[in-house]
Order: sequence, then structure tokens, then C-alpha cells
Amino acid sequence: MNLSENFDVAVLGGTGKLGTGLGARLAVSGMSVFLGSRREETGVTSALRLKAKLSGFDTAADVAGGSNHEAALRARVVIVAVPAFALGDMLPALAVSLADKVVVSTAVPVRFAGGVATLEQRSHSMAEDVARMLPHSHVAGAFHTVSNVNLGHVELPLSEDILITSDSGRAFSETAAIVDLIDNARPVNAGALANSGLTESLAVLLISINATYHSHSGIVISGIP
Ligand SMILES: NC(=O)c1ccc[n+]([C@@H]2O[C@H](COP(=O)([O-])OP(=O)(O)OC[C@H]3O[C@@H](n4cnc5c(N)ncnc54)[C@H](OP(=O)(O)O)[C@@H]3O)[C@@H](O)[C@H]2O)c1
Repeated sequence: MNLSENFDVAVLGGTGKLGTGLGARLAVSGMSVFLGSRREETGVTSALRLKAKLSGFDTAADVAGGSNHEAALRARVVIVAVPAFALGDMLPALAVSLADKVVVSTAVPVRFAGGVATLEQRSHSMAEDVARMLPHSHVAGAFHTVSNVNLGHVELPLSEDILITSDSGRAFSETAAIVDLIDNARPVNAGALANSGLTESLAVLLISINATYHSHSGIVISGIP
């Protein structure tokens, strides 16, 4: 198996709602994408399904899939798109493979009870926890406020801001470079990784707004260039 870093971006949990939405959007934006899964064959199948969906788009770059472990090895930038509760079991086992890479946390600590979304009260954000689990990686938080539905509608521009938090200049700039390639999306520097609790909680606010308005709302920050 060739495990070189020859994909632009890899997604852990690339088979899920956010992972496939991101995979589609990034591929249509010209980035090669590797979709990871706990089961190699699920990753492969998801990639084949995504390739079929994108077959009419001239711009779509290569998409492949396999295990999360392979995904961790196949790109310099790895987006983590698994449920928040799964991170503690999954990431420590991948820490060596993810060393010296940019790792982007998308996880929102949300609880659903009776159809209502609430923010799980925690002392640290999920992105800060990811950084603690991966001490040799360059961690950013991003994509919390974007809906997988909007990502998946690749025929439409993504007219939203993507708030990026990080303590690493490299993690910020490589994540921002990815966002910059997406049609109409704008990367916004949302400051230190310690601000991730704010961006993660914004996602819970949007889930509540979406439930009221039957929408897929996102964030646009006014007054910045
Ligand atoms: N959905 C959105 O619009 C959205 C927006 C912003 C942020 N997020 C965040 O993105 C992350 C993924 O959300 P999602 O809606 O895409 O979730 P999801 O569809 O429920 O799950 C994503 C993938 O995670 C993997 N997974 C599930 N349980 C796991 C476990 N116990 N251990 C390891 N992997 C597991 C599964 O892949 P395999 O079975 O193939 O391994 C699944 O396809 C969450 O942290 C969420 O807060 C989501």
C-alpha cells in the first residue's frame, strides 16, 4: 500500500454527514481528498459514491477512501469529522501518524434531548482537547458553523465565513488556504485555540436557529475586509 502524503486533505470520519459534505466541496474546489472510516471498506465505498456524485464536474479532483489510520497518513492536513464523544478513543491511537501535521477539529460538544440542542458544559473546548491528545500536531478549530447540507450543494457557492481558531501559524494558514479555494467562502481568523469554545457554542446556536426556521444558516462577520 502506498501511504505517502499525496492527497491535499484527508478526513477522519469522512463517511459521515460533515465528512462527505466537506469531501464533496473540497474536491469540487480542486483539492484531492481521502475519506477515512473505522472500516476500510466503508471509506472505499464512500469515496466511490462521492466520485459518482461529482462525475459531472470538470473541476473535481481525485477522491479515495480507506481506514482512518490510512487517512491520517495520506495528507498534510487532516480534518477530524467524528462525533465529539468519539475523539478520546480515536485520536490518541493516531497521534504518531498525525505528528507534524495540521489537524482541524470540527467537533461540537452538543447534546440533544427532546429534540432540543444544548451545549455540553465543559472546562475546555473540543479543539483544545484535540490539541492535548495530539501534542505533536498543529491543531486548528474550523468548520463548526457550516452545515453539511450547504457543503453538499456543490453546485452553489458557499457564501459563508469559516471561523478558524489556532495557536499555530501553520495550522491557521494551511486551514485558511483550504477555505480560500472554496467558491465564495472566506476564512476568518477567530484568534487563539482558547476561543474555540466560542465557535463551538455558535454552532449550537445555529442548530437552534435552524430548528426554528427550518434553515441551514451560517455565519458572516460584517465590517472586516
Ligand atoms: N453535520 C454537520 O453539519 C456538522 C457541522 C459542523 C460540525 N460538525 C461536527 O462534525 C463532526 C461529525 O458530525 P457528523 O454530523 O458528520 O456526524 P456523523 O455523521 O454522525 O458521524 C461522522 C462519522 O463519524 C464516525 N463515527 C461515528 N461514531 C464513531 C465512534 N464512536 N468512533 C469513531 N468514529 C465514529 C462514522 O464513520 P465510520 O462509521 O465510517 O467510522 C461517521 O460516519 C461532529 O463532531 C460534529 O459536531 C457537524
